[in-house]
Amino acid sequence: MIVIKNEQELVCMRQACRITAAARALAGEMVRPGVSTKAIDKAVHDFIVAQGAKPSFLNYHGYPASVCISVNNTVIHGIPGGYVLKDGDIVSIDVGALYKGFHGDCAATFPCGTISAEAQKLIDVTKQSFFEGIAFARPGHRVSDISHAIQTYVESNGFSVVRSFVGHGVGRQLHEEPEVPNFGKAGHGPRLLRGMTLAIEPMVNAGVYDVRVLKDGWTTVTADGKLSAHYENTVLITDGEPEILTVTEGL
Ligand code: MF3
Ligand code: CO
Repeated sequence: MIVIKNEQELVCMRQACRITAAARALAGEMVRPGVSTKAIDKAVHDFIVAQGAKPSFLNYHGYPASVCISVNNTVIHGIPGGYVLKDGDIVSIDVGALYKGFHGDCAATFPCGTISAEAQKLIDVTKQSFFEGIAFARPGHRVSDISHAIQTYVESNGFSVVRSFVGHGVGRQLHEEPEVPNFGKAGHGPRLLRGMTLAIEPMVNAGVYDVRVLKDGWTTVTADGKLSAHYENTVLITDGEPEILTVTEGL
């Protein structure tokens, strides 16, 4: 069942999403050579708690941290720890916050110091693919119209979209229906309706789309060892333009 949020619920959802977006921005500002991934995790954790919210990911199915920090060939679910960021890394940071009963979920990939032109292109194409996708995030379209637009844009730029992880509905639960794949034919899946809130999150690989999960059960890396980037926002379907909820304005 796809949950439609009413205006009262959306007030809370917006607040949760603003906290989440501010946490992403804070994390992004910390990305520079010499900083450990666990220092970013701690700062984000403390920020979310200071806002009166809870980190959505901490203990989610046993996940041991407040953010996912996925460096270079790590696609998603990198666990913060002793790794020290170095010049040239690309750093995907995914964060969720629970506030007044609702989750926000967002991610972005940040450059650490000076990165290669290819890495920058991967980051830019990944972010733009999200915007290509949300052009279809409105009534009159179906979920897979978003998926198809993302895939088409990514592949036309010579990159590939991850298949084995997808976007999702988000609200009282971190993961709700529907699934929002970043690939597929247009015109399939549920019809989009006002009041749906979706986490749209292209995961884009420089090489093949295949991924592999390491023995820790979380860390997901590209099968070919090439770079990967991620971009995600929580988006509200309205009667007109979609509203990106994970924005920092108005916090
Ligand atoms: N942010 C991820 C998503 O977009 C979920 C992270 S799973 C967790 O769906 F276990 F790390 F929390
Ligand atoms: Co998500």
